[in-house]
Amino acid sequence: CYTAQANSSLQKPSIYSDDEYADVDWDNLGFGINPADYMYTMKCSKDENFEQGQLSRYRNIELSPSAGVLNYGQARDDGLYESTKAYKTKDGRVLLFRPDQHAMRLKMGAERLCMSSPSVDQFVNAVKEIAHANKRWVPPPGKGSLYMRPLLMGSGPVLGLAPAPEYTFLIFASPVGNYFKAGFYFHCTLQGTAPLNLYIEEEFVRATPGGAGGVKTIGNYAPVLKAIARAKSRGFTDVLYLDSVNRKYLEEVSSCNIFIVKGDVISTPATNGTILEGVTRKSIMDIARDHGYQVEERAIPVDELVDADEVFCTGTAVVVGPVGSITYQNRRIEYKMGPGSVSGKLYSTLVGIQTGLIEDKKGWTIEI
Ligand code: COI
Repeated sequence: CYTAQANSSLQKPSIYSDDEYADVDWDNLGFGINPADYMYTMKCSKDENFEQGQLSRYRNIELSPSAGVLNYGQARDDGLYESTKAYKTKDGRVLLFRPDQHAMRLKMGAERLCMSSPSVDQFVNAVKEIAHANKRWVPPPGKGSLYMRPLLMGSGPVLGLAPAPEYTFLIFASPVGNYFKAGFYFHCTLQGTAPLNLYIEEEFVRATPGGAGGVKTIGNYAPVLKAIARAKSRGFTDVLYLDSVNRKYLEEVSSCNIFIVKGDVISTPATNGTILEGVTRKSIMDIARDHGYQVEERAIPVDELVDADEVFCTGTAVVVGPVGSITYQNRRIEYKMGPGSVSGKLYSTLVGIQTGLIEDKKGWTIEI
């Protein structure tokens, strides 16, 4: 194991030089697991602080059969994950995008699920360590990003229903390309834009008021797999869910948040405990305001989709995904995608900042 040096200059645990790349087919990256050399682990007992973390080679982990994560959703519902990405700039630097925001969201989610969580500094330091150790896995500029998946889980043993007595925080990394085969192609090259075709689910809901839909917990993902599989078998890209009470208002897509554009107004469902507060969602709202759009967070009736000029999705994995059609009650609503689209403009600015092509005046990026 390599012991991470919290808040000190980063040490390089590998024998690789800074300009060396891992043996990866960079031109054909999808969103599959391609594990980078190192992962990062730290633990803590309930109500104590996390100990200093360690880097080790990517490997399987050992868990007690009675771990809270496996038995009571501190594996399924309480296990919790975030995600953040590292990008390589044209001049060879590696930039992280808003890891502090992911850290704060992890803390909020952990609190809801009665889990101990690392401090914001510990989280950000861990992300820096893992990105630095896996530098040769950060794709060349324009080819994708290094996706880092921090997990927090109840790893201590329980039998009765209770929070686990020990927590494990872990980050692994994998280089990735586009989440959907459709979507904008990388780094401000809008050629090849292939819009997403969404299906509005009427049987299943994603979250209910008072539940944990607003928390990025693994328990929000297994239940949507069936709806996704059904939609995919009918040729759709992903599923858009409606609220569970009225079955009338837009919530989110299985893997990302949703926005609609009408004239100069960009709207997204208000987060009310059932919708994930995406870091990309928040960043896009800021960027949209900078571009002069009026941004509204509100309840959006499904009927508004008919009159929308554009619809797009946002997420760490998805980035910004333009929507080409939405099918609801056997009716297909189509959206025109063209040069100068609002989502294209927002995408270019976001990715420009993430990759160092556009000056980061907001202090969102961290160079490692
Ligand atoms: C992300 O956007 O990073 C997520 O964790 C969503 C997941 C479905 C890929």
